Amino acid sequence: MDLTLKIWRQKNKDDKGGMETFQISDVSPDSSFLEMLDLLNEDLVNKGEVPVAFDHDCREGICGMCSLYINGEAHGPDRAVTTCQLHMRKFKDGDTIFVEPWRAKAFPVIKDLVVDRGAFDRIMEAGGFVSVNTSGNTQDANALPIPKVDADNAFDAATCIGCGACVATCKNASAMLFVSAKVSQLALLPQGQVEAKRRAIHMVEQMDHEGFGNCTNTGACEVECPKGISLDNIARMNREYLSAAIVSED
Ligand code: SF4
Ligand code: FES
Repeated sequence: MDLTLKIWRQKNKDDKGGMETFQISDVSPDSSFLEMLDLLNEDLVNKGEVPVAFDHDCREGICGMCSLYINGEAHGPDRAVTTCQLHMRKFKDGDTIFVEPWRAKAFPVIKDLVVDRGAFDRIMEAGGFVSVNTSGNTQDANALPIPKVDADNAFDAATCIGCGACVATCKNASAMLFVSAKVSQLALLPQGQVEAKRRAIHMVEQMDHEGFGNCTNTGACEVECPKGISLDNIARMNREYLSAAIVSED
């Protein structure tokens, strides 16, 4: 496949940035989108030019690092996949492909296609954890009966990989789908009850503090989420937040 790439280039967070056009030839339809960018960078390095910076790690849909906006869609035109799982066979020979970083105030661009998603880490630090008694009297997790439906819903919420596509897709740059997945994962299990009263409040407060927008129920986040995280989690988080606010300890 021969392709034209229009890629966002930005030297650093203070640079204005802009689109740059590249031609790339002989791309295998079986290669992944990131492998295609590897080819481009190999070519740029061979020519003595600066390669395009982009984020990646696992390249198998687990780490949530590969955050690219491709032809106006988070993680590109395929459904329920991350950018690293997107294959070039989804495009046609001769196509022009636009590649941009996530766009959100809370995710500042560091360089080219790489954004700082540290805001998600700070939200997790605010409440995305459980306290465990490690005094030697720790209860065997298998001794805690958990209804199958709760375990399934908790596992579904736990598949969120923190990629940020929900934020990039949302017209309000809301992080509600991400935060609600993390709140739900713990709210549904007995192990998550110790901090339940303050978790939702602290995580939502941090989310607002980081500059994410509010949810207006457009549902775009659910459509573009590579892990199929359900909007039901947002409803659950709102219930958790409300009940915690009524009996707030701090
Ligand atoms: S909810 Fe989905 S889109 Fe948002 S961070 Fe988690 S996996 Fe990514
Ligand atoms: S590189 Fe890890 S999810 Fe894509």
